Amino acid sequence: MTTTAPIPNGLPMERDAGPFDPPREISRLREARPVSPMLFPDGHEGWLVTGYDELRQLMADTRFSSRQDIGVLHVPYEIPGMPEMTEPAPQTPGLFISMDPPDHTRLRRKLTGAFTVKRMKQLEAHIADIVERQLDEMARLAPPVDLVKEFALSVPSLVICEMLGVPYADREEFQVNSAKFLIRDQSLDEKMVAYNAMTAYLAELVTNKRATPGEDLLSDLARDEDLSIAELIGMAFLLLFAGHETTANMLALGTFALLEHPEQLAELRADPELLPGAVEELMRYLSVVDILFRYATEDIELGGETISRGSTVVVSQLAANHDPRRFDNPDTLDIHRDARGHLSLGHGVHQCLGQQLARVEMRAGFAGLLRRFPTLQLAIPAGEVRLRTDMTIYGVHELPVSWTESAS
Ligand code: HEM
Repeated sequence: MTTTAPIPNGLPMERDAGPFDPPREISRLREARPVSPMLFPDGHEGWLVTGYDELRQLMADTRFSSRQDIGVLHVPYEIPGMPEMTEPAPQTPGLFISMDPPDHTRLRRKLTGAFTVKRMKQLEAHIADIVERQLDEMARLAPPVDLVKEFALSVPSLVICEMLGVPYADREEFQVNSAKFLIRDQSLDEKMVAYNAMTAYLAELVTNKRATPGEDLLSDLARDEDLSIAELIGMAFLLLFAGHETTANMLALGTFALLEHPEQLAELRADPELLPGAVEELMRYLSVVDILFRYATEDIELGGETISRGSTVVVSQLAANHDPRRFDNPDTLDIHRDARGHLSLGHGVHQCLGQQLARVEMRAGFAGLLRRFPTLQLAIPAGEVRLRTDMTIYGVHELPVSWTESAS
């Protein structure tokens, strides 16, 4: 493997190739050295993985740990107020996305039954109803409106609140706090305030559910005496957070991408059967979660390089999903391509637990929006749409849209 490729100093993040493509530097690195050393702002030399095969191999290998409590995990961008990491971070109980087997397996297993394809099929009609109600409300507004606020954020929030048994009226509390949590350079203090507010809220909620359980997923978990209150809080936090920010950004950025590809949008409107394939392609093309971290627990060979024990490894799913060795013309949105095998939902033991729910939400969401708003258009020039390059989940901050006739 060549050693002449540039070594990035921190993670290249500027979307200089357009709102939907990987940063140019990331694409260049993927071609030159798909497993590349990277300098972190704290001086640590870790790794950046951008190739499809390499990323898939890494995610399937549990020697690349998701834990934060076994070694020092370095952050590839500046966080104001963040002291230099010299110690591993303590493990948060219940937060199984940051655990390895067998701890991870024990907790994830408690949820798999609630997220099966069959369960999600049963929810389909209900989710379509939620979408319709939200579109009714949007149709009553005078355009331009912000699609993020009026539609993309509210649909997944309503769905996950109902599923978990979190009162939707409390959404301000967790939406505002989880958004703060996602701002990359939000100071550590602010992040902690937001995190503490969310966990205090959830502590009260799960304690009440343990005392008087109802008919919802958090109550089902609360009935399980094997789970401590601290674990219930961590699991609730993960589900609530993962359950709305991800899908919301897919719906909003996906709409932006479709509006920028009017021919494909027209095809989708004419033939909704194309939607399931289009949703997979949008997930590949947009890769909103993009950056994930792993920690090497031993020296590991990957892509012809040796990743030494103790290194932080950063992966770019966006880069891998745009790898021309795996997808032809990867920087082109093509709703007809077979995009299965994309890595946007992760791979290996941590592969997204809520993926079927996300698919049902996205199919219903795009189908409803396109049908009800046949003249939907951007209300500002595309170049003025505020991109979430400052957030750890990509998307748009707002998507001002308008339409020319009332939606029926
Ligand atoms: C894990 C993406 C929707 C719950 C993940 C991972 C990715 C991902 C990439 C793997 C993280 C890793 O390996 O470190 C997405 C995307 C979504 C979406 C792109 C929307 C389009 C959802 C929804 C839920 C959810 C609706 C519902 C609760 C979870 C959970 C995990 C997870 C609990 C952790 C799984 C584990 O550690 O075993 N998701 N997700 N996600 N996702 Fe999603």
